[in-house]
Amino acid sequence: MRIGVIGTGHVGLVTSVTLAEVGHAVTGADVDTEKISALNDRRAPFYEPGMEELLHRGIAEKTLVFSPDVKDAIAGMEVVFICVGTPPGAGGEANLIAVERAATDVARAATGRLVVAEKSTVPTGTASKVRRILVRDRPDLESDLEVVANPEFLREGQAIEDARYPTRILVGADSEWALDCMRKLYGPFVERGADLIETDIATAELAKHACNAFLALKISFANALARLSERAGADVTAVADVMGTDPRIGRAFLDAGLGYGGSCFHKDLMAFERLAARLGYEFPLLHEVARINDEAVAAAVEKISEALWNVQGKRVALFGLAFKPRTDDTRFAPALALARRLFDRGAQVVGYDPMASANAKAEVAELDIAPDPYEAASGAHCIVLCTEWDEFRGLDFDRLRGAMASPVVVDGRNFLDEQRVKDAGFSYYPTGRRPLP
Ligand code: UDX
Repeated sequence: MRIGVIGTGHVGLVTSVTLAEVGHAVTGADVDTEKISALNDRRAPFYEPGMEELLHRGIAEKTLVFSPDVKDAIAGMEVVFICVGTPPGAGGEANLIAVERAATDVARAATGRLVVAEKSTVPTGTASKVRRILVRDRPDLESDLEVVANPEFLREGQAIEDARYPTRILVGADSEWALDCMRKLYGPFVERGADLIETDIATAELAKHACNAFLALKISFANALARLSERAGADVTAVADVMGTDPRIGRAFLDAGLGYGGSCFHKDLMAFERLAARLGYEFPLLHEVARINDEAVAAAVEKISEALWNVQGKRVALFGLAFKPRTDDTRFAPALALARRLFDRGAQVVGYDPMASANAKAEVAELDIAPDPYEAASGAHCIVLCTEWDEFRGLDFDRLRGAMASPVVVDGRNFLDEQRVKDAGFSYYPTGRRPLP
C-alpha cells in the first residue's frame, strides 16, 4: 500500500521503517530539512536499536523515501499517518498546532480517497477536529477522507521490536471502509501474531491516555510504598514481588526508584488531567501520581544529604543520565531533575552515561560530563545510580573507591549488588528499604 507519514520523530520514523519493512511503499515527510537529508543519507536522528538497519534496507529496496515537502507524503497515498509532536502547552494541555497544520496540509494535498491515521497522542475529540478541517477545506472529497485513531504503544529503546512484533494494534474508526483499509495495512503484523483491537474513535483516543496514566500510576504507587517501606523497615522490592504474584495486579511497572521520565508519561498525564477537567470531570488522582513522582527525586536528595551531611561544595557523580537504559533520550530524565536540585543546594555535579551525555549537557549546561564512570567518581563524595544500564553491573568498586573523596553509593534504582558494594568499603543507601546491617 502507499503510505505517507507526516513527522519523522520517534513515532513517525519507527512507523515509517517498520511499515516499509513489510513491503508498503512509505514516504516520510518533515519540515526539518536537515533531518530529511540525514535520513536520506541513512542516518537516524536518535539512537534506537535496529533503526539504522531498517533505514538502510528500506532505502536500498526503495520502499522508503523521505521528503522535505509534506505534499509528497499525501498526494496519491492510501493512508497518511499524522505523527507530529504534541508538546505540553502553558496549562499542561497538549499543544495541537502541529496536528492542525498537518490536517490542513492533508486537505490541501489530498488527491482522492484517503485514510488519515492519527498516531500522535492526542486528547479525545481531536480526530473529529481533524475531520472538520478536512471537510471544511475539501468539500469535494467529503466522503473520501476519513480519520482513524491509531495510537502507538512503543517503548523507547525497544521501539523497533515493539513495532515489528506488536502484541496489540489499536484502531478506532467510525467508518467501515477506513477500518478495512487499516486491516489491510496491518495484515502482515496480525499474521505475526498481533491482536487488532477495533473500537470507535473516542475509545481509542481515551484508551491511549488511560494506558500511559495507569502505568505511571503503578510506578508512583511503588514509589509511595518505597517511602513507607523505609519508615516501616520493609523492603519495597519484596513488597512489589508479593503484589506481583497476584495476576490481577502483575509485577511489571512496580519498580521503585527515582521515578519515571521520558517524553510520554509526564506530557500525557498532564494532558489527560486537563482533558478530564475540560470534560467536566476532576481527576486529582492523576495530579497525585505526578506529585509522588517528583517526591521520588526529592527523597533521593534527602538521602544524599543524610549521607554527606552538607551537600554544599560536595561533588556528586550521577551514573546514568538517560531517562531509562538503552536510549540517549534525556527528556524529563529523573537524573537531570536530581542534578538541578543538587545544584540548587550548592553541590558540584558530574554525570556519566554510555549514550546520553551530549543530550544531558544540552539540557543542563552546568553539568560536568565524564567520559567513563571512574573519571566521574574521581574526587566525588557520592555516586548516585540513576539509570540501570547493564554496564554498571560490571563496575570495579575497589577502583571507584580509590578515586573518590568519600565512599558513598546511593542506589536510585535498587540495581547494584549491595554486598559487593559494601565489600569494597562503601556506605550503601538503597531506595525503599534499609541497608543491610
Ligand atoms: C512509555 C510506554 O511504556 C509506552 O507504551 C508509550 O507508548 C510511551 O511511553 P517509554 O517512555 O519509552 O514508554 O518508557 P517506559 O519503558 O514505559 O518507562 C518509562 C519510565 O518509567 C522510565 O523512566 C523508567 O525508568 C520508569 N519506570 C518504569 C520505573 O521507574 N519503574 C518501573 O517499574 C517501570
